[in-house]
Amino acid sequence: MTETPAPPLIFPSELVQTLRSAHRVVVLTGAGISAESGIPTFRQAQTGLWTQYRAEDLATPEAFRKNPRLVWEWYAWRRNIIANSKPNPAHLALVKLEDQIPNFTLITQNVDNLHQTAGSRKIIEFHGNIFRTKCSNENRVVETWFDTGEVPPRCPSCNHFLRPDVVWFGELISEAALSAAFRSVQDCQVFISIGTSGLVEPAASLPRLALQHESLLVEINLEPTPLTHQADFILQGLSGRIIPQLIAKVWPDLQP
Ligand code: OAD
Repeated sequence: MTETPAPPLIFPSELVQTLRSAHRVVVLTGAGISAESGIPTFRQAQTGLWTQYRAEDLATPEAFRKNPRLVWEWYAWRRNIIANSKPNPAHLALVKLEDQIPNFTLITQNVDNLHQTAGSRKIIEFHGNIFRTKCSNENRVVETWFDTGEVPPRCPSCNHFLRPDVVWFGELISEAALSAAFRSVQDCQVFISIGTSGLVEPAASLPRLALQHESLLVEINLEPTPLTHQADFILQGLSGRIIPQLIAKVWPDLQP
């Protein structure tokens, strides 16, 4: 038996025209864009060993102070899943979008490095990167350390624990990431929010800031979010299906 292919998606012509002529576009991505690469989103149930924990309870400075080994091992588990995954068609389509838009900024809340692997260039890592490690005391990136078997390992310079270079709940986004994001959002013509529940600040404020500056707002998500009722265009479904088809519709001459 052969499976009938899903019919091609139909996009509003105003959206297609606007994107075709846009010069300044901002895309905000969340965990949903990497779900089709096999990486669990934050608010999905955790698997196996981790079913008893909520991601939010492990991604805090308090959790690390209380049980650094548990937090380090949870990130090691996530890093292992991510290291075995690859960019999906949504990540790849955003590289094409960047090629077409003169002033394009990708703000990602994801720490999984998949946009970078796909080939995106102008990326603001809003929540850090799981493949970097920093000293929990000196707050600087550390690239090599002695493997003594201790978990977490210790900083070779000050002997405090090392930790992933990601932003935890209750911590501040880096000033550089915040100001670069605000600058591009205040100036964009189209803001596209992809695969984020829009529940975590300050990222959740970015689409609202875009609206205040009269940007068009597009949301791509499997389900409604607090942003949905403010969006000009709501594209509901899998980002790995929607984004490549949208790009192909806007720029039909591009190589698939
Ligand atoms: P969430 O897990 O909160 O939300 C994922 C969103 O993606 C949901 O709205 C899903 O409906 C949607 N989704 C899932 N699969 C999808 C698919 N294939 N296509 C389109 N949409 C899909 O993740 P984030 O919004 O990224 O922060 O979470 C924001 C922040 O909270 C994270 O960066 C992390 C987390 O705790 C920190 O660790 C500081």
